[in-house]
Amino acid sequence: MRTQVAIIGSGPAGLLLGQLLYKAGIDNIVLDRVSKDHILGRIRAGVLEEGTAWLLDKAGVGERLQRENLPHDGFDLVFDDEVHRIDLYNLTGGKRVHVYGQTELTQDLMEAREAESLKTFYEADNVRPHDFDGTSPYVTFEKDGVSQRIDCDFIAGCDGFHGVSRKVVPEGAMQTFEKVYPFGWLGLLADVPPVHEELIYANHSRGFALCSMRSLTRSRYYVQCPLTEKVEDWTADRFWDELRRRLPDKTAQQVTTGPALEMSIAPLRSVVSEPLRFGRLFLAGDAAHIVPPTGAKGLNLAASDVHYLFEALREHYLDSSDAGLDTYSKKALHRIWNAERFSWWMTSVMHRFPDMSIFDRRIQQAEFYQLTHSKAASTALAENYVGLPF
Ligand code: APR
Ligand code: PHB
Repeated sequence: MRTQVAIIGSGPAGLLLGQLLYKAGIDNIVLDRVSKDHILGRIRAGVLEEGTAWLLDKAGVGERLQRENLPHDGFDLVFDDEVHRIDLYNLTGGKRVHVYGQTELTQDLMEAREAESLKTFYEADNVRPHDFDGTSPYVTFEKDGVSQRIDCDFIAGCDGFHGVSRKVVPEGAMQTFEKVYPFGWLGLLADVPPVHEELIYANHSRGFALCSMRSLTRSRYYVQCPLTEKVEDWTADRFWDELRRRLPDKTAQQVTTGPALEMSIAPLRSVVSEPLRFGRLFLAGDAAHIVPPTGAKGLNLAASDVHYLFEALREHYLDSSDAGLDTYSKKALHRIWNAERFSWWMTSVMHRFPDMSIFDRRIQQAEFYQLTHSKAASTALAENYVGLPF
């Protein structure tokens, strides 16, 4: 079979790219190693920048998002028991973020793809890109035991950090920069009303805690934990106790507890690979970078990569210009490094590090002082949180 763009990975990056290309009249096929249900079963963050929401609208999948999202004009930072609200809306001249789960967004994208009967192969085995350094790349895979081949003009590697697209890059052609943090986040999802109408990020002597939500009836909470922690050793009750210990008394008393729909531990790390183009193969989303979840940049960064890549492909097909393809890597990496800086900074300020000295702790306290006393400092935080322009 033949298509213009073969997209590996049916996460938000691959699906959004597919939808934008389709809207522009550019043919594409999406391939994923796992099933639709498996993809929809993953619990991920759910805070969208306005740029991400705009892009989803442009892709024609913004309708349910517009209807069901919870707009957030600010969030609370808590240091020990002192609370400081970051007024996103006023600090950024009227910008906000939108709470809408990644699962919902992925489902909207899948439904839109199905409604247009766009070719998608789930549970595709041994997906492999070939000849992307020449002019006639192709992708091979197996579906139900039958070998298949897709000839294409370009391959978009949207298959996450452990995908095949990174693996086929020739030795020495890509550099990867990484920072691993000495802790993880233990997350719990529950059908209980959120403790507060906005998110709460807390730096506490027992470790970081985050109060987040998916809707007015579904909450998502996290506590920082050592990397040695095992999710099997946690019950929902133990989690609720630990969470409440890390929140100011008044907030802790208002937490509604309930059974866990899901509990999992995610390690935190920052990773960037350079460059993002290898001939006719382009990396986007988690295939190109990982951010720690502090600040919720992962999905938004995947969306901005896709924006640059889509515009580059659109220019190639509709304006006969390769300028966008030639600058994709540079443009995307510029924004990626800025989001990496922000999520690294927020992770550093909000967590208790196991080897923290008194010096390090005083610096965290000084950071908090800056945020509470300097409008410039909180404006810088707010600008990054609502999303840098793209
Ligand atoms: N062949 C085909 N598909 C693959 C392969 C492979 N070898 N390896 C991985 N995939 C698929 C995965 O099954 C997954 O569905 O690629 C998809 C990648 O999707 P995501 O991991 O969701 O990555 P991305 O679309 O870049 O989305 C980024 O997701 O992880 C969060 O923090 C991240 O929120 C951000 C967003
Ligand atoms: C989430 O709701 O899962 C979430 C929200 C904000 C973050 C990280 C995760 O910074």
